[in-house]
Amino acid sequence: MNKLLQINSSLFTSEGQSTQLADLFIADYSKKNPETKVQTLDLSANPLPHLDGERFTAFITPVGERSESQKVIVAESDKLIADLREASAIVFALPMYNFGIPSVLKAYIDHIARAGETFKYTENGPVGLLEDKPVYIFAARGGSYLGTDNDTQTGYMKAFLAFIGLTNVQFVYAENLNLGEDSKTESLKNAREKISQLLNK
Ligand SMILES: Cc1cc2nc3c(=O)[nH]c(=O)nc-3n(C[C@H](O)[C@H](O)[C@H](O)COP(=O)(O)O)c2cc1C
Repeated sequence: MNKLLQINSSLFTSEGQSTQLADLFIADYSKKNPETKVQTLDLSANPLPHLDGERFTAFITPVGERSESQKVIVAESDKLIADLREASAIVFALPMYNFGIPSVLKAYIDHIARAGETFKYTENGPVGLLEDKPVYIFAARGGSYLGTDNDTQTGYMKAFLAFIGLTNVQFVYAENLNLGEDSKTESLKNAREKISQLLNK
């Protein structure tokens, strides 16, 4: 059974442009892989807390020494990592907010970056511990950043995902969504075309 893990972070939840593009891809993917089970994490509807000292200390406390409250904190992170491990492919719906990734997505990343679980340090530098699998990212932006220093998302997502072992990452962008109806329509049309080609490569 194929399991697809969809990670949404639009503050407009299912109405977000990034969510809708991810949904379109998933419909296509499910048609081509009829046995697919989709698990959706809506990080905006169900946000994780910020990583603070208490939570990070729980992560790095050895298993046998954790307090009851630390066990609860670690169990939440363990479940998120188990979901990643079980997935055959991962889909991120990625809005741009205030020149970066949504803070709810950063909180998620802070909960899955766990030494000994998703990465480890070796003499030759960090090594990702997740089995490599396809990652699809659907990025929605009001303006246009691709290929410029202001695209703070592409490099960051690639770097972080590679850090935990995920190197097979493909992006589809819908830019200029807030520059008037014509450019929005054109941009979404182009993105939908790219999505329809993604699985035919
Ligand atoms: C709080 C907020 C901040 C935003 N900041 C940016 C920005 O820095 N750059 C940009 O190009 N668009 C920005 N936008 C526009 C969004 O990128 C655009 O609405 C996009 O569709 C968001 O994805 P979503 O519809 O999936 O939420 C912002 C939108 C909101 C609501």
